[in-house]
Amino acid sequence: MAKKLIGPSTRLFPMPTLLVCVKTGENAANIITIAWGGIAGGSPPLIGIAVGKNHFSTPYLRKEGNFTINIPNSRQDVEADYCGIVSGTRDPDKAKTCGFTLAPSTKITSPLIAECPMNFECKLYKELDFKGLYLFLGEVVETHIDEAVLDEHGRIVTEKLDPLVFLPNGEYRKIGDFVSKAFSVGRKLSKPQVSPD
Ligand SMILES: Cc1cc2nc3c(=O)[nH]c(=O)nc-3n(C[C@H](O)[C@H](O)[C@H](O)COP(=O)(O)O)c2cc1C
Repeated sequence: MAKKLIGPSTRLFPMPTLLVCVKTGENAANIITIAWGGIAGGSPPLIGIAVGKNHFSTPYLRKEGNFTINIPNSRQDVEADYCGIVSGTRDPDKAKTCGFTLAPSTKITSPLIAECPMNFECKLYKELDFKGLYLFLGEVVETHIDEAVLDEHGRIVTEKLDPLVFLPNGEYRKIGDFVSKAFSVGRKLSKPQVSPD
């Protein structure tokens, strides 16, 4: 396998497409699309989002101290992209433009996007100051999931959740084919246990 060195990069395939919603005023909220995000801890449950310092959302995220992370499905690509190419300075009601309903959260002041099949309510846990961006760590205090994407055992059906995936080459994609069972398929390479005599 011949490898080409491309230098330090952030080209991690795939990335999530997250719609982060933060309260900006009485009955007002802004939505920003974030692909630089992911799990940062399990206990407490933390999700990290990297947000540029110059974005309209940034001072509100710091001041409000909470936000929701909303997972769009693959049919919500236009809306997700819009929230990532138009700033709240130009459109202070992106939710309305997108046809999204902002519904109250249960434990925080920032609302969630009702039309997204999954929503995480996050309290700002820590803010890390990096060059050009803040890494906000949000502690997940509640999770909402559309009953229609669950099976009879309450497990998420991937095809029904159908999360919109972002690739660093600038494409939105759907989740692809099932490959194998995690925490299981690797057993094929396990050596048989040798019992002590
Ligand atoms: C697919 C996609 C992913 C993005 N990911 C990020 C990100 O991880 N961090 C960030 O600061 N901006 C990201 N952006 C850019 C912001 O979403 C964009 O600048 C947005 O208009 C800022 O909104 P605001 O000014 O209303 O806060 C992304 C945009 C798109 C389209």
